[in-house]
Amino acid sequence: MIDLIRHKQEMIATTRRWQTVGESVCLVPTMGGIHDGHLALVKAARARADRVVVSIYVNPTQFTAGEDFDQYPRSFDTDMASIHAAGGCDMIYAPTTMYHDGHATSIVPGGVALAMEGESRPHFFTGVATVVSKLFTHVPADMAIFGEKDYQQLAVIRQLVRDLDLPIDILAHATIREEDGLALSSRNQYLSQQERRVAPALYAQMRQAANAIIGGTPALTALGAAADQLKSLGFGKIDYFDLRQPDDLTRTDKPVPENRIFAAVWLGKTRLIDNCPLA
Ligand code: PAJ
Repeated sequence: MIDLIRHKQEMIATTRRWQTVGESVCLVPTMGGIHDGHLALVKAARARADRVVVSIYVNPTQFTAGEDFDQYPRSFDTDMASIHAAGGCDMIYAPTTMYHDGHATSIVPGGVALAMEGESRPHFFTGVATVVSKLFTHVPADMAIFGEKDYQQLAVIRQLVRDLDLPIDILAHATIREEDGLALSSRNQYLSQQERRVAPALYAQMRQAANAIIGGTPALTALGAAADQLKSLGFGKIDYFDLRQPDDLTRTDKPVPENRIFAAVWLGKTRLIDNCPLA
């Protein structure tokens, strides 16, 4: 099975030992609930670096009261087995302690963190930026890889690394989807059978809106029609369904291929997020 480290001192020393003999190290940060999206990141990391560390830590500071922290899948043994079956990695880092008593410092990202998730979940990116900074210290890797499934998170991490001069390269990986288009997510486990049947409509409507916008329909019209369709299919509150620029994430209505649709919608008690380029 794969080796496991639970303490930051040992993780720092192990990373440094590899680097001393000239090996490059890539970190794949996760909260567990490992699925094929995570495994694609691990595989891409193996192709880029000599050593791959997968971190598994359900970070409490990126959840707020009333969110799904308690419910979030914790399936450590299955996670280890899945990573092993998919070709493995050099180390799993599952810290027992992340925040010591009296922890009182946070990283509060502005800029690309402010819209979308920043509006719907104001605590979220502070928690993410803080824990990712700590993970970059515990695993002083040469590079780290993040998924475009969480495109705004990826933008926040790139901004964090740039703004704080962190000595790490950030790699991105395309979103992995089920055959019916639903983006893989640990939270898909919350969906009932009926909701799971409806869920692919999110990506279908995003694609339909994207094609319409590229075809000349005004963005607001196309996005509004998609949102109406989702409502009629039984989706609940739409936190956002926007067309935005890929770099600074500002709103746009321009039908250029690299602009992206970003969506966060509720289906029952599950909040689904997704994004895709127009073409
Ligand atoms: P988690 O949701 O476990 O995701 C870990 C990584 O897997 C993230 O970079 C995410 O974008 C990527 N990922 C998830 N689903 C994917 C999919 N369908 N296709 C491609 N990549 C996918 O994101 C987090 O954890 C946390 O916020 C974390 C960064 C670990 C900080 O706690």
